[in-house]
Amino acid sequence: MSEKRDDGGSTDPAPGFDTLAVRSGVERTHYLEHSDPIFLTSSFVFDNAAQAAARFAGDEPGFVYSRAGNPTVTAFQNRLAMLEGAEACVATASGMSAIMATVMSLTASGSRVVAARELFGATLQMFKILERFGVSVDYVKVTEPQQWRAALRPETRLFYLESPSNPLTEIADLGAISGIARAAGLPLVVDNCLCSPALQRPLALGADIVVHSATKYLDGQGRVLGGAVLGSRAFIEETLVPFVRTTGPTLSAFNAWVLLKGMETLGLRMERQCANALELARWLEAHPAVERVLYPGLTSHPQHRLAMSQQSAGGAVIAFEVRGADDETRRRRAWQVIDNCRLLSITANLGDVKTTITHPASTTHSRAGSEARLAAGIGEGLLRIAVGVENVTDLSADLARGLAAG
Ligand SMILES: Cc1ncc(COP(=O)(O)O)c(C=O)c1O
Repeated sequence: MSEKRDDGGSTDPAPGFDTLAVRSGVERTHYLEHSDPIFLTSSFVFDNAAQAAARFAGDEPGFVYSRAGNPTVTAFQNRLAMLEGAEACVATASGMSAIMATVMSLTASGSRVVAARELFGATLQMFKILERFGVSVDYVKVTEPQQWRAALRPETRLFYLESPSNPLTEIADLGAISGIARAAGLPLVVDNCLCSPALQRPLALGADIVVHSATKYLDGQGRVLGGAVLGSRAFIEETLVPFVRTTGPTLSAFNAWVLLKGMETLGLRMERQCANALELARWLEAHPAVERVLYPGLTSHPQHRLAMSQQSAGGAVIAFEVRGADDETRRRRAWQVIDNCRLLSITANLGDVKTTITHPASTTHSRAGSEARLAAGIGEGLLRIAVGVENVTDLSADLARGLAAG
């Protein structure tokens, strides 16, 4: 914790998660400001030519140019590394740039990736783009570790998954899959976006690399885009940093500052949002117009026990399907639920304190194509709710209107 005063060798216990979320990572300037400072500058000046040369050569520590490093961005990286229990972190402009930088820095033309079929739509799209550069993907079921082992080839360079997956909240057995990756000498990359480090720390469960869309729970109020990659110091400094600093998907200092502020309330928000989600999931499960509810915190979730052994709570994302005899009816009813909402925001973002609702098949996963959607189990009747901090009775009243419409 860089903000700490010298306490002469204190024997205090290691700071807890919420303390780290509020206080870690930031270095106070000589002005002794209380709130985190923000450094909106593209470049940094040098005392003389020799110092400039030493900084560019990496012989002297210090900032040079904000594409390669900025104190506010460094503070964000340090704080998130503390929260995830990682040795190092690199911040990026968005979650997608974190994923792209990770995959591209670990692969070359001819490489293969073993990835879960159950991924966020843009991640599936990104893998399609990478095929143009000779990187192929072998898709497997996120819930079936033996499929991961069977998909291994000599050209495989990494394993990639989300747990819980977006939107169906399917859970990967991180211990089993990371064991297969380790035995093959490959890194397991986990997108920890839906849980955030407040609920799950994949590195402690066997993963090698964690990626984040900081846009979601780390910000928590739907304000800025951001991303991050976390892992060992060797991977971050030797493999990822050279890629990011030259290709340029850098996080802006302003966004880093907003994210630092967001992280201060991460634990508090997640506690309330998870409690709200559990209550709303139970309400939905009892509703006659609902075919099924997928929420890791419900005992009816197919992997409830595994989820609860990896996560401290079920999260705040609920997927549910409305009843209907065919695809057309299911889509009509799902859209009806959305169109009757007066409180829930009709938007594809998640992780906000405001509850959001979306129809994945026609929004977040529309570009994935019907075949990929079918393989991932995303049907026309599926709705995704990312639960916020409002009163649950107001949320259920809002949903009840559309569900009753028939
Ligand atoms: C699971 C998951 N990963 C990655 C992303 C991409 O993040 P961003 O929108 O910040 O690029 C998203 C966005 O919704 C997501 O839900």
